Amino acid sequence: MVSKGTNYVLQHFLLAIVIVIFFTPKYCFAKKSKLLGLKMNVIDQCWRPNSEWRKYRQQLATCSVGYVGKMTNNIGKSLIHYKVIDSNDDPINPKPGTLRYGASVIQEKVWITFQKDMNIILLKPLLISSFTTIDGRGVEVHIANNACLMIFKATNIIIHSIKIHHCKAQTPGTVMGPNGKVTHLGQVDGDAIRLVTASKIWIDHNTLYNCEDGLLDVTRGSTDVTISNNWFREQDKVMLLGHDDGYVRDLNMKVTVVYNHFGPNCNQRMPRIRHGYAHVANNLYLGWMQYALGGSMGPSLKSEANLFIAPKIGSKEVTWRKTGLTNEDKWEFHSVRDAFENGASFAVTKGGRVPKPNYSKEQSFKVRDVKLVRSLTQSSGAFQCSRTSIC
Ligand SMILES: *[C@@H]1O[C@H](CO)[C@@H](O)[C@H](O)[C@H]1NC(C)=O
Repeated sequence: MVSKGTNYVLQHFLLAIVIVIFFTPKYCFAKKSKLLGLKMNVIDQCWRPNSEWRKYRQQLATCSVGYVGKMTNNIGKSLIHYKVIDSNDDPINPKPGTLRYGASVIQEKVWITFQKDMNIILLKPLLISSFTTIDGRGVEVHIANNACLMIFKATNIIIHSIKIHHCKAQTPGTVMGPNGKVTHLGQVDGDAIRLVTASKIWIDHNTLYNCEDGLLDVTRGSTDVTISNNWFREQDKVMLLGHDDGYVRDLNMKVTVVYNHFGPNCNQRMPRIRHGYAHVANNLYLGWMQYALGGSMGPSLKSEANLFIAPKIGSKEVTWRKTGLTNEDKWEFHSVRDAFENGASFAVTKGGRVPKPNYSKEQSFKVRDVKLVRSLTQSSGAFQCSRTSIC
């Protein structure tokens, strides 16, 4: 009797444990992540496990890390929800329903989504207003084959999950300005995204390739920028941080470059930095032709836990520095916990201290071990999540 009773209690106890394990949300969550087969990075982990993300798109604004901080200025009560339903473009009189109307004409806080897959050919560069989010999740949006994106004297902007490619140089002309007024715009190079005197800009999960000039330029006093989870490929000049050697306002530039996937077929500038400071962490470099990290005018760079895979032929050296300048001694390129494959090498600055990013609490994130870089960057680029609920 006694042993039977104990057995009965034990069985029920075990059953209770099984029930607890199977039905707690934590277990379900772990199961879901396992289904996805991914080890997500801290940005993605913040919103992707939520299968209802379409209902809670604005959650994304709380997920950013690095110098951009959190994007909570882009959400809240007064937010306008705008849906692009028309892929046409009119640079001077944008029609309601087009991307340009949402991004340049609307001056309030706006969250832009897209009704369906779209190929948008911009007739002039798109000047994005402050407090604008462009969110391409759930559909496939290409901005390609002519003018591309420009952020000119604007702040608090998110660009997410867009494919931008085959961007071409533009002749001077008139265009709807970021202030909702038609303005004159000079000659513009063929970059995918160009920042001019812009701050607090988050560029996340975009796929950028094959443009006439570069893929991403951060220039003329732009700062507080995070470039994360993007896929950069098929390009000569990839990313420029700092306008030109003489532009000293870029001394204060601070940029975070994290969880990006560079390659295949990228030649140089991943990034090339002038004057300011860049924290380049947990990125995957699939080769380069000239170099991966370069600069001039005494920039500081902390390269942390990146995976550099040198090309089979060509330069094995990750870095490049412009020599013959007066302040070249101030050059600071530091490598911490990086990994090198195929004979890759990194010419570090000797002596001195590695400059810390000095992130605030909301900017800071844990840089992961370089062994995890492949999985942390596995879903870089624009998402293909149109058919399933999980992105
Ligand atoms: C962080 O603070 C230290 C100490 O003040 C300083 O030396 C370093 O340059 C700072 N880093 C940046 C990126 O400003």
